[in-house]
Amino acid sequence: YESLTVAELAKKLNREPSEIIKKLFMLGVMATINQSLDKDAIELVCADYGVEVEEEVRIDKTDLNVYFEEEDPEEALVERPPVVTIMGHVDHGKTTTLDAIRHTRVTEAEAGGITQHIGAYQVDINGKKITFLDTPGHEAFTTMRARGAQITDIVVIVVAADDGVMPQTVEAINHAKAANVPIIVAVNKIDKPTANPDRVMQELTEYGLIPEDWGGDTIFVPISALKGEGIDQLLEMILLVAEVSELKANPNRRAIGTVIEARLDKGRGSVATLLVQNGTLRVGDPIVVGNTFGRVRAMVNDLGRRVKEATPATPVEITGLHEVPQAGDRFVVFEDEKTAREIGEARAQMALQASRAQKSRLTLDNLFEQM
Ligand code: GTP
Ligand code: MG
Repeated sequence: YESLTVAELAKKLNREPSEIIKKLFMLGVMATINQSLDKDAIELVCADYGVEVEEEVRIDKTDLNVYFEEEDPEEALVERPPVVTIMGHVDHGKTTTLDAIRHTRVTEAEAGGITQHIGAYQVDINGKKITFLDTPGHEAFTTMRARGAQITDIVVIVVAADDGVMPQTVEAINHAKAANVPIIVAVNKIDKPTANPDRVMQELTEYGLIPEDWGGDTIFVPISALKGEGIDQLLEMILLVAEVSELKANPNRRAIGTVIEARLDKGRGSVATLLVQNGTLRVGDPIVVGNTFGRVRAMVNDLGRRVKEATPATPVEITGLHEVPQAGDRFVVFEDEKTAREIGEARAQMALQASRAQKSRLTLDNLFEQM
C-alpha cells in the first residue's frame, strides 16, 4: 500500500487503532488515528505483528491529474470551441479589446442579461463559438502553467502600435511559446496618429514572429479596439487557427476542467468559475475541486443565466462546494457523492499535512537563521 491511515491499517490488521498508535509510539513514531502512514511505518508495524506487506500497484485516485490523462476513444470526440487568452503589455489595450469583442458579439437583448461578471465569456460567430478568458493576467497564467493546468488553446498578444514591443510583450511571447500555444498578434491603436504598425512587425521578427507577407507564419491583425475596427477580422483569424488546431473533446463523459476564479459570497457560499475542458458538467454532479468537494447546486453561464449543463470549453459559475478553491485548481466529477467526498476529504487532509510540514520547516529555518 502506498499509504494508509492508522485507522485503515488497524482495520486491515484486525486490531484496535489505539493499539496501533501505542505500537507506533514504541517504535518511535508519533501518530494520530487519521494520520497517513508511509510505507516504512506500515512495514514496521506489520513486521512487528509478523504480517507480510503485499505491495499493491494502484493508481492514486486522489491525484486529479490522473483523470486528465484518460484518453477518449477517437469516435467519441467532437469539435469544441477554442479557449483564447489575451495578453500584452500594460495599457496596450487588452481590456478594451475584450470589451470590443463582447460588444460586437453580444446582442443588446443578451447584454441586458449580464447580471454579473464572470471571469470568462463565450462569443458566437455564425454558429462557431470562441471562449475568452477575461482576467488571467500573466501571473495567473504562470501559476496555472506551473501547476500543469494548460487551459488556453490560442494566445492573442496585443501590442500598441504607438508604443511597440515592451517587456510584458516579450513575457507574453515567452509564456505562449513555453506552453506551445499558437500566437496571433493584434496590433492595436492603429487609429492613433503616432501609430506605426510596421515598426511593431519589424520588432517582433526578433522574437520569431514573422508576418505571412514577409514569408513567416504569424498572423498579424491591425485593430483599433477603441473604435471597434478590425475586431471581426481578429475573430475570423482566431477561428481559422482553431480549425487548424483541430480542437476536440468528448461531451459524453464526466466533466473535468480548471478553476478560473473563486470567491466566498455572503449569500451563496463558495462560488467558483470553472472552465469545462472535457465532458459535460451538470447540475447535481458530485465534484472534487482542488482540495474541496461538493455537489453542483446551481450553474450560471457567462450571461448570468441559469443553465443545467455545460459542454467542453464552456465557462460556468457554480455553487455547492464546501470550501473556496483556488484559481488554477483542477476539478473532476465523480460517479457518486461518496467517492467525491472520500477523495475531496483525502485531498484536504493531504493539503493540511503539507502546509503543517511547510510551517514546521519554516520555523526550523527561522530558528537556524537566528542562531
Ligand atoms: P492593463 O489592464 O492596465 O494592463 O491595460 P490594458 O492592456 O487592459 O489596456 P486598456 O484596455 O485598459 O487600455 C489602456 C488605454 O488605452 C485606455 O485609455 C484605452 O482607452 C486606450 N486604448 C485601448 N485601445 C485603444 C485603441 O485602439 N485606440 C486608442 N486610441 N486608444 C486605445
Ligand atoms: Mg486591462
